[in-house]
Parts: sequence; C-alpha cells; structure tokens
Amino acid sequence: MTETKITDPRDKLRGRSNVKDSPELIDFYDKLEKKSTTAFWRRANEIEPWEPITRYNPTLWRYGELRDLVLQSAELVKPEEAGRRVIVLMNDSDAGREHTACVGWLFSGLQVMKPGEITPAHKHTASAQRFIMEGGGAYTVVDGHQVTLNKNDYVLTPNGCWHDHGVFDDGKVSIWQDGLDIPLMNSLETNFYSVYPEETQKAEYNIDDSPLSYGAPGLIPAGRKPWDKPYSPLLVYRWEDTKKALYNLEKAGDGCPYDGYILRYSNPIDGGWAMKTMGAHMQMLRPNQHTKAHRHTGNVMYNCAGGKGYSIIGGQRYDWQEHDIFCIPSWVWHEHVNTSKNEEAFLYSFNDFPVMEALNLYIEEPLDDNNGYQVIIS
Ligand SMILES: [Fe+2]
Ligand SMILES: [Fe+2]
Repeated sequence: MTETKITDPRDKLRGRSNVKDSPELIDFYDKLEKKSTTAFWRRANEIEPWEPITRYNPTLWRYGELRDLVLQSAELVKPEEAGRRVIVLMNDSDAGREHTACVGWLFSGLQVMKPGEITPAHKHTASAQRFIMEGGGAYTVVDGHQVTLNKNDYVLTPNGCWHDHGVFDDGKVSIWQDGLDIPLMNSLETNFYSVYPEETQKAEYNIDDSPLSYGAPGLIPAGRKPWDKPYSPLLVYRWEDTKKALYNLEKAGDGCPYDGYILRYSNPIDGGWAMKTMGAHMQMLRPNQHTKAHRHTGNVMYNCAGGKGYSIIGGQRYDWQEHDIFCIPSWVWHEHVNTSKNEEAFLYSFNDFPVMEALNLYIEEPLDDNNGYQVIIS
C-alpha cells in the first residue's frame, strides 16, 4: 500500500490529488478493495496526465532486414492455411501487446503473395488499407470490385467489405504493408469476422472499374446512382497520379513547414478521409529539405516510398531508405530530413487522425525552441 506519488511539481497544485497515507486511510483502502472499489484520488494523477503520455516507442523496421524473413514465410506457410500470411510489425515496447498494436490504435504487417496464390475471402469490422511495396500482377477484390495493384499504390478494404487478394499466375512475388485499426476495434469490443461462403469472390464489375470511374481529379460519373457508402469509391490510388499531384503541388507554393509537400488520400465524393477510422498521406521532401518540428495527437506509421533521409523523433535520429517503416507515437516531437542533394524523398504514411478529428481530439503544436528544430539527444 503506497501513498499517492507526486511525480510532477504541478501535482502539488490545487485541483490535483495529493493525499498522504495514514493508518486509517490504509485500512479504508483495504475495505474498498474488498468491495471491488478504490479511491479515485489514488489514481487520478496517473490516469489524468497533464498532457498525453504515449506508452509506445518510436520504432524503425528496416526493410533490408525483414524482406528475407517475409519471403521465407511464403515457403513455410500457405496463405489458405494462415488465412492471411502476414509478418506483424510489433512496437519496440511492451505497449499494446494485447491488441497486437504497432503504435496506438494501429496494426500493421507485411504480407507476401506468390503468383497463383489467393487469400481466402473474408470480412471484418476492422478497416484495412495496403501500401504496395514490390511485385506485379497482384489484385484485390472488394465487394465484387477487382482492382489491380502496383508498386506504391494505396489500396482500401473498408470495414465490413468482403475482400480477397491474389497474384495472377503470370505475376511476380508481391509484398505489401497492411494497415488495420484492429487495436481500436478490439478496444471498443466491436470486432466481428466472417468467412465468405466460397473461397474467393467472383468479380462482379469490369476489372479496375473503381479507379477507371472515380480516378480522374474532380470528376465523378454522371447519371449513376449516387455513391452512398461511408468510404471512398476510389478503392485504389495510383502512384503515378499521386506523384504527379505532388510535383504539381510543389509548383503551387511552398508546402507545409512540418511535412514538405503533403497530400491526403481523400474520398472524391465528399473530400473527407478515404475511410472513417484511418487516414493516409503521401508527402514529398525536396532535396536537402529539413522540415521544422511539430507534435500532435494521433499515431502515424510511415513507409519510405522512395529516396533516403532521416526523421528525428523524440530527439532521436532514425535513418530510412526505400521501404523502411517507422512509427511516430502520439504527442512526440518529429521532423523529417531528405539527405539527398538532388533527389526528392517520398514518405507514405497512415494514421488514426479520422478518429481524433471525429472526437474533436486532434491537437497540433509547433516547436518554438531552437528555431523549431529538436536537439538530437542520441
Ligand atoms: Fe482482411
Ligand atoms: Fe506530424
């Protein structure tokens, strides 16, 4: 039985818990515990911190170190046995283990598929998105819409949609990064899962009907029943379109001081996020660009889509190159650097910002000290 610890000088202020233990109180606490109760003031300062305190560590997963292991999984386990043959990215901390979180509300893993393989059709409450890292001839089918997948494409499998994946017989071994909101769904205790009555869905529409219908900027099909689903009808965002849009954005102005040139993958119907619980961005850093530091609520997983550089996260430097993955936990200072003198660097990222925004919890703050740059502490 210990008394309430004062860990922050501000906890001595009126309005915070500062109760000293006494024999009478210790006896009282014992009585409470026997009745499945406790005194709030014993926990208040810990569960109501002055500002968000993440339990997650910034973590870097080097693709060069993981790729062989991911390929090895394809020799050891069949996708129809595994359901999904995914090597899960685990945070470099003890946080979130009960929900297999990589950071905050996010789950992520690397999925590999060989030519001719399929992942059996299923659906779940969790939303999923994919970022294609390498390969060719891969596809996914979402509620009967079959879309082809190419390197650096961003792909949706929104919550509650039947989906299955595969690689055509003449395709290449394909690897992509999955991102799901499994930790959020399980924390909310609202996660359902179903398997499709057949092994795979039959494509009900022309192949790539989604990007062919909704992929032109500012244009949506006329004379068709209005899209009424709560997610984007554009199920795949092509890299060539995204890259072109970033270079166009560069011509339009100076970009963002914290992220360089950054685009949000949006729902073309309403301009909102592509899905309700997870969002994603692609950003471009100019040669030698060093962004200023900021921090915000919400968790982010990054995947370097091209180029090389480093990010300073919570005062530590993390070097990255193509397809290295790293995370930035909530309310941790971060800034990004492109170390190339003549090549742009590209960072794909996905996040839980839609949840933060929907609940009015998104808060962002610039670093004012040291002209907006962190001091590297290790
Ligand atoms: Fe799935
Ligand atoms: Fe940020």
